[in-house]
Amino acid sequence: MRLRETESDDSSRPEFWDARYAASETPWDFHGVPMALKAFLTTSPAGRALIPGCGLAYEVRAFHEAGWKVTAIDFSPAAVERARSELGALASRVVQGDFFSYDFSARRFDVIYERTFLCALPPVLWPTYVNRMTQLLRPGGKLVGIFLYGDQVEPPPYPLSPEKARELFKEKFSLAKTLSVSDSLPMFADSERWNEWELI
Ligand SMILES: C[S@@+](CC[C@H](N)C(=O)[O-])C[C@H]1O[C@@H](n2cnc3c(N)ncnc32)[C@H](O)[C@@H]1O
Repeated sequence: MRLRETESDDSSRPEFWDARYAASETPWDFHGVPMALKAFLTTSPAGRALIPGCGLAYEVRAFHEAGWKVTAIDFSPAAVERARSELGALASRVVQGDFFSYDFSARRFDVIYERTFLCALPPVLWPTYVNRMTQLLRPGGKLVGIFLYGDQVEPPPYPLSPEKARELFKEKFSLAKTLSVSDSLPMFADSERWNEWELI
């Protein structure tokens, strides 16, 4: 399913996403926390987590309730405003900014969680995404989440293939876990995998 064109057709720009949040045209929105993340949180020791491209940031509460110190970031003002208003006392956990340039301070994250963020970015940005992950994770830290695999005739979203994923992550990450996802939205059915990429 292709996202409708608006003023900006460049998904690397905040305007692209902001127009869609402002119009409530967000077909990727899960309206909750995926089961695979809930399972991860029940089995992983709490630490410091980042959620890039967080959108409406439902997962912030799940991380917080599992004892994590969580920060989420999105560069769409409309998304951040809605996420903050839903999160109430946890609103300050969501920052508005560009994942690629925001200053998160020198302390690194134990885990970075993502859903439909990499596939929202034009593939020309994927190596920059991987470099940024290596800067922000502690050694042995994990990039975990739900990644889109398959074909897309008219992106975005831009799905991975197993070969592309291997090529992209091979220098700095090893694939510690991959699982199927059973609660995908219909538009992503059979195309999502839970991946845990461990920083070498
Ligand atoms: C398809 S949406 C996914 C949102 C959320 N992760 C979810 O599962 O609903 C992609 C999100 O990435 C955000 N985004 C894209 N590029 C970004 C960047 N460079 N910095 C911060 N956020 C970005 C967009 O504003 C949008 O909210």
